[in-house]
Amino acid sequence: MSKVDIAVEQFAKVVKSQLERIERMKAQKDFVDYQKLDKIIIGVCGGDGIGPVITHEAQRVLEYLLKDAVAAGKIEFKVIDGLTIENRVACGKAIPDDVLAELKSCHVILKGPTTTPRAGDPWPNIESANVAMRKELDLFANVRPVKVPEEGIDWTFFRENTEGAYTLGSCGVNVDEDLGIDFTVTTKQGTDRIARLAYDYAKKNGKNRVSIVTKANVIKTTDGNFLRDCKEVAKEYPEITTDDWYIDIMTAKLIDKKRRTDFRVFILPNLYGDIITDEAAEFQGGVGTAGSANLGKQYAMFEAIHGSAPRMVNEGRDKYADPCSMLRATVLLLSHIGYQAEADRLERALDICMYEEKKLKVTGHSDGATTEEFGNYVMETTTKL
Ligand code: IPM
Ligand code: MG
Repeated sequence: MSKVDIAVEQFAKVVKSQLERIERMKAQKDFVDYQKLDKIIIGVCGGDGIGPVITHEAQRVLEYLLKDAVAAGKIEFKVIDGLTIENRVACGKAIPDDVLAELKSCHVILKGPTTTPRAGDPWPNIESANVAMRKELDLFANVRPVKVPEEGIDWTFFRENTEGAYTLGSCGVNVDEDLGIDFTVTTKQGTDRIARLAYDYAKKNGKNRVSIVTKANVIKTTDGNFLRDCKEVAKEYPEITTDDWYIDIMTAKLIDKKRRTDFRVFILPNLYGDIITDEAAEFQGGVGTAGSANLGKQYAMFEAIHGSAPRMVNEGRDKYADPCSMLRATVLLLSHIGYQAEADRLERALDICMYEEKKLKVTGHSDGATTEEFGNYVMETTTKL
């Protein structure tokens, strides 16, 4: 077979798998109604690097806030091991089968960062566990809030989480040593559901502006379709102002103090959402302060927006890791499963501990508080509210 034929065969497989995915999206039911469940099972998955330390801390705070619900049998925790890089490599899978089965036996998951291999690492270059989990559980919306109240920053990013450059990031084709080709995917169903979620959120929360961010002037097919389909959904929400931006100028506008306070809700394809949310988190104190919700119709997963920071572990500093990103993710989890009062209490306590009272400070080094000390501080603060 010629190298062109081999590449065409790989492309055909990609097209087939995406058409099948569209059929699965069409057949999907509506969002789970947590109020109707007798019991909500929360899976806790530590991950790699600083993941286990900060996830354990978030679990402690969560168990503390939900102790009555646990006692009443309404909430159950399930600790899931085995999502470590060592185990993933041993199984040769982004998510080992038994771990995936356990994840699927939970309603929501609190997940620590996982190490993502790349070429040249000591690990084989397997697919990212994050990306695989988002795809396997169809967690199509990556919702990332960033707030700096004193500067008028109140942003919520709706990053499409199962398509774009990510969905086939491990399925590219090396036609030969000279030519590598990757694929970027946009579907009408995929765009429609993320846009609808973003607009519904804006409407419910009184946010008056939604900004669609693409590079549709250059990436004409996939970004072009994304923009077109988001604008189609926008028509159903005439009370909300919609604007559209290119990712390059939007990246600049986020640092424009005069303009950035106008923005409220953003909708973006996967890769742009990945990049811009790290930039945005920097305004509120860095990626260590930002949590995210990965939402699907059947499952939901809550995590930090940052990586596993192996350097901190190698330098013996993991016990000084900042748990705030996971605690912010915990706020989103509580709110998602309908424990809004607990979510509000934790959010308020975090604001006090991180920005107002600041009795303890996490620096990532031995001159700062340990992860556990900060967790205790947050719990004590919730009792005063
Ligand atoms: C994120 C992370 C992940 C991503 C990595 C760890 C695969 O950067 O959640 O933003 O790129 O999505
Ligand atoms: Mg990222």
